[in-house]
Amino acid sequence: MTLHRTALAAAALALALPLAQAQTGKLKVGLMLPYTGTFAALGNAIENGFRLHVAEQGGKLGGREIEIVKVDDESDPAKATDNINKLIKRDSVDVVVGTVHSGVAMAMAKVAKDTGTMLIVPNAGADAITGPMCAPNIFRSSFSNWQPGYAAGEVVAKKGHKNVVTITWKYAAGDESVKGFKEAFEKGGGKVTKELSLPFPNVEFQALLTEIAAAKPDAVYTFFAGGGAVKFVKDYAAAGLKGKIPLYGAGFLTDGTLEAQGADADGLLTTLHYADGLDTPRDKTFRLAYAKTYKLQPDVYAMQGYDAAQMLGIGLAAAKGDITKKAEFGAALRKAKIDSPRGAFTISASHNPVQDLYLRQVVGKENKVIGIASKALPDPGRGCRM
Ligand code: PHB
Repeated sequence: MTLHRTALAAAALALALPLAQAQTGKLKVGLMLPYTGTFAALGNAIENGFRLHVAEQGGKLGGREIEIVKVDDESDPAKATDNINKLIKRDSVDVVVGTVHSGVAMAMAKVAKDTGTMLIVPNAGADAITGPMCAPNIFRSSFSNWQPGYAAGEVVAKKGHKNVVTITWKYAAGDESVKGFKEAFEKGGGKVTKELSLPFPNVEFQALLTEIAAAKPDAVYTFFAGGGAVKFVKDYAAAGLKGKIPLYGAGFLTDGTLEAQGADADGLLTTLHYADGLDTPRDKTFRLAYAKTYKLQPDVYAMQGYDAAQMLGIGLAAAKGDITKKAEFGAALRKAKIDSPRGAFTISASHNPVQDLYLRQVVGKENKVIGIASKALPDPGRGCRM
C-alpha cells in the first residue's frame, strides 16, 4: 500500500514537472503586423517599440525569455484568418500581438476568442474589439476608433465651426472615427453635412477634393494614416484648400508622416493619445532609448508597441509566467496603472485604454502638444459583455 502510494506520488510529480518547467522556458510571441503596403512603416514602428521594452527587461517578460515569430498581414482582411491560424497552429505561439488594420484585427479577435489565445492589439481601433467582441483574453494597448474622433468633435465644435464635411477610407476605422467625431460635434451644436469616402487603400483623392471645394464647409474632418495620410495632406494643399478650409483629423493624419508631408502639414490640428513635447521624464527616457537604438524618432505606433510589451509583462508577471492563467493575467491588467510614455493610463472593463486625448498642432517636424482635448476619456465599450 505504502509502496503503491509512493509510486503514485512519483508518477504525479513526473507529470507535473514538465508543466512547471514550461513556465520558465521561452514564451513565443507571434507578431502579426503589416510589413508591406500603406501601413508598412506603422508595423515596423510597433515591432521596434515592442522589442525595445523587451530589451530593457533583459529579453524576458514575467521571467520568461521572449522569442518572436513574425507574419506580414499585408493589411489584407481576406488573409487575416489564415495568417493568425498559421501563428497559432503551425508556430504554436503563446500570445499574438497585432495588428494595425481594423478589418484584419476583427478577424484576429474572432480566432482569439474561439481558440482562447491571448491577443494584445497594439494599434487597430475597431470599436467592436472592446465592444461586442470583447473577451477575457483580448486587450488593447492603443485606442478605440471612437476616442480620437470624439475628442476631435469636441474641439471642432468649440472652435465654433457649424458645417463640416468628413472624408475617409470606407472601412471600420474610417467609419468609426467619423462616427465618434459626429457624435461629439453634433452634441456641440454642429452638423456633418456630407460624408465622403473611398475604398481602402485608394489614394485617388482628386474628385472628392473638388467636391469639398464646391461644398465650401466651415471645416473638414478626416481619418487617414500611413502612406495614404502623406498623400492626402499633400493633395489637400495642392488643391488649394489649405488655408481656405481648416482641416482637422485623428492624429494619425500627421503621426510618423511629417518628414514626407513637409510644409503641407504645417499648422494642422489633430487629436491623439500621444504628442511631441509632452516633456515628462518617462517620455524623455523612452524617446532617448528609442532614438539611440533605431536612429529614428518614435511615433504613436512605436509607443503603442512598447506598451503592448509592458502590458504583456504585467499580465505575465501576475500569472507567474503561465499565460494560460487568464484570470490572473486579466485581473492584473484591469487594476494596473500603466507607466506609458503617453502618460499613465488604466485599462477599462472592456480592456481598452482610459487615456488623455491631446490636442496637437504641427510645428515643423513635430506634433506639438497644445492642450488636452479630453481628459481620461474612456471608450464607452458599447455592447461588451464579459
Ligand atoms: C485601423 O485600421 O484601425 C487604423 C489603421 C491605422 C491607424 C489607425 C487605425 O493609424
